[in-house]
Amino acid sequence: MPMKNKWFLIAAAVCVGCAVFATIAFKPGIDPIPTPGADTFDAASVGRGARVVAQGDCMVCHTAAGGAPFAGGLPLKTPFGTIYTTNITPDPATGIGRWSLAAFTRALRQGVARDGHLLYPAFPYIHYTKMSTADINDAYAYLMTRTPVAYKAPDNDLLPPLRLRPLLAGWNLLYLRPGPVADDRSQSAEWNRGRYLVDGAGHCASCHSALGPIGGERSPAFGGGHIDGWDAPSLTTLLQAPKPWTREQLALYLRHGWSSEHGAAAGPMGPVAHSLSQVPQQDTDAIATYIMSLQQPAAKATAPAAATDTARIAAGARLFAGACAGCHGSAAPMMTAGGRPSLALSSAVASDRPDNLIQIMLNGVPWSHAQQTTFMPPFAASLTDAQIASIAAYVRADIGKRAAWTGVEPRAADIRKENQQ
Ligand code: HEC
Ligand code: HEC
Ligand code: HEC
Repeated sequence: MPMKNKWFLIAAAVCVGCAVFATIAFKPGIDPIPTPGADTFDAASVGRGARVVAQGDCMVCHTAAGGAPFAGGLPLKTPFGTIYTTNITPDPATGIGRWSLAAFTRALRQGVARDGHLLYPAFPYIHYTKMSTADINDAYAYLMTRTPVAYKAPDNDLLPPLRLRPLLAGWNLLYLRPGPVADDRSQSAEWNRGRYLVDGAGHCASCHSALGPIGGERSPAFGGGHIDGWDAPSLTTLLQAPKPWTREQLALYLRHGWSSEHGAAAGPMGPVAHSLSQVPQQDTDAIATYIMSLQQPAAKATAPAAATDTARIAAGARLFAGACAGCHGSAAPMMTAGGRPSLALSSAVASDRPDNLIQIMLNGVPWSHAQQTTFMPPFAASLTDAQIASIAAYVRADIGKRAAWTGVEPRAADIRKENQQ
C-alpha cells in the first residue's frame, strides 16, 4: 500500500474514533419545562413512587446531615475525592423542578444530567438503569410533589483529571449496561422480583462488591466490599456464618434492621434497612429469597485456633467486664429480656478483618429504629486504641473462638482518622 493511502486510513480511523467518542461523551441537553404543579400528578402514582424511592434509598444519599430531605449536599468520599449529592427536590433553580420525565429517565438509565453533562457513578445509575419504566415514572411523580427547597450543594473536590466529565464516557462503556433485564422464566415470580430489587433500585452490589481501581464493581458480585471504613460482608457466604442465615432471619434483618440471630444492621447498612422498613413486606421477602439463592454451600466447621496473646486477652476480658458485659455478658438482663444474640454470632466478630468490630466500638449502634433495644453507646471518647485492641482480642478469642487478628491497634487508629475526615 502506498504511504499516502496508509496515512489517509489512519487519519480516517482517528476521525471515526473521535466521532464515536463525541457521540458517547457529549449528550444533547433536554429542554427545561415549566415546573409542573403538584396537582398535575396522579395520587396513586405518587403513592407508588414513595415505595420506589424507599427501595432506592434516594433520600439516604440526597439528604445532608441536618439538611432538608432530598435537597442534597451529602459529601460522598471516594478514592478520587469528594462528590456532593445534588438537590432533587422540585426547586426550579437549584433542584430538578425544570426536568421533564424524559430528562429524569435519562439520568437514571444513562447517568446524564438534563443539560447533557455526564454524572459521576457515585450516583448508582448502573443499577437504577434496570428499574422499570413504570417505577421510574412513579419515582418522578413522588419527587416532583415534594417540598421544593432552594439549596445548592458545594462544588465537588476531585482530582483534576476527574473533573473532566466527558472521560466518564469510557467508564460507561465498561460498566453501564442500559435498560431493564428480562425475567428468568425458570425462576419463581418472587425470585425475579427479588433480583429486580437487589440489582436495580436496591443497588446492593454497589457496597457489597469489591471496587476496581477506577471504581467499577468487580466480580464476583456480592463477594464483599468496603464502604466508609466499614466492611460490607459477602452476601454469598451467609450459610458459612457462625449461625447460618435463613431466609426468614434475612427478611427480618432487612425489614427491621435487626434479627434475633444476627443482631443489628450497623454503620452504612443502618440507613439501608431503615429505608427498607418503609416498603411492603413482600418486597423484603423477595429480596431475601433472591439473596438466599446466591449462597455457596456451608463450610465445614474448623477447629478453633489456640489463642497466643494471653496477656492482651486477659486485659481485654477485664475491660469487657466493665464496658460491655452489662449488655453483652451472658447474664446481662438485656440478653435475657430482649433475646439479644450472642456476640459469637456477629459477623463483626467472625469476619476475617477487625474493621466492623472496631467501628461498632467507636460509633456504637445509633438509636434510629423502632426496635428500642438496639441502642449501643459510642466508645470513641472513652476507649484508647490499645484498649479497643485488647477488647477485640478477647472477644475474638474467647467469645468468637477464632484465630487472632493482627494489627488491630494501628487499624483502630486509622479508622478513627478516616471517620474524622
Ligand atoms: C449512593 C448515593 C446515591 C443514591 C442512593 C442516589 N443518588 Fe442520586 N445522585 C448521587 C450523586 C453523588 C449525584 C451527583 C452526581 C454528579 O454530580 O455527577 C446524584 C445525582 C442525581 C440526579 C441528577 C441531578 C442533577 O442535578 O444533576 C438525579 C435525578 C438523581 N441523582 C436521582 C436519584 C434517585 C431518583 C435516587 C433513588 C432511586 C437516587 N438519586 C439515589 C448519589 C446518589
Ligand atoms: C448499653 C448496652 C450496650 C453496651 C454497654 C455495649 N453494647 Fe454492643 N450492642 C448493644 C446493642 C443494643 C447492639 C445491637 C445489636 C443487638 O441487639 O445485639 C450491640 C451490638 C454490638 C455488636 C454487633 C453485634 C451485631 O449486631 O452483629 C458488637 C460486636 C458489640 N455490640 C460489641 C460491644 C462491645 C465490644 C462493647 C464494649 C466495648 C459493647 N458492645 C457495649 C448494646 C450494648
Ligand atoms: C451503603 C452501602 C450498603 C448498601 C447499599 C447495602 N449494604 Fe448491606 N451492609 C453494608 C455494611 C457496611 C454492612 C455491615 C454492617 C453490619 O454488619 O452491621 C452490611 C451488612 C449486611 C448484611 C449482614 C451481613 C452479615 O454477614 O452480617 C446483609 C444480609 C446485608 N447487608 C444485605 C444487604 C442487601 C440485601 C442490600 C440491598 C437491598 C444491602 N445490604 C445494601 C452496606 C450496604
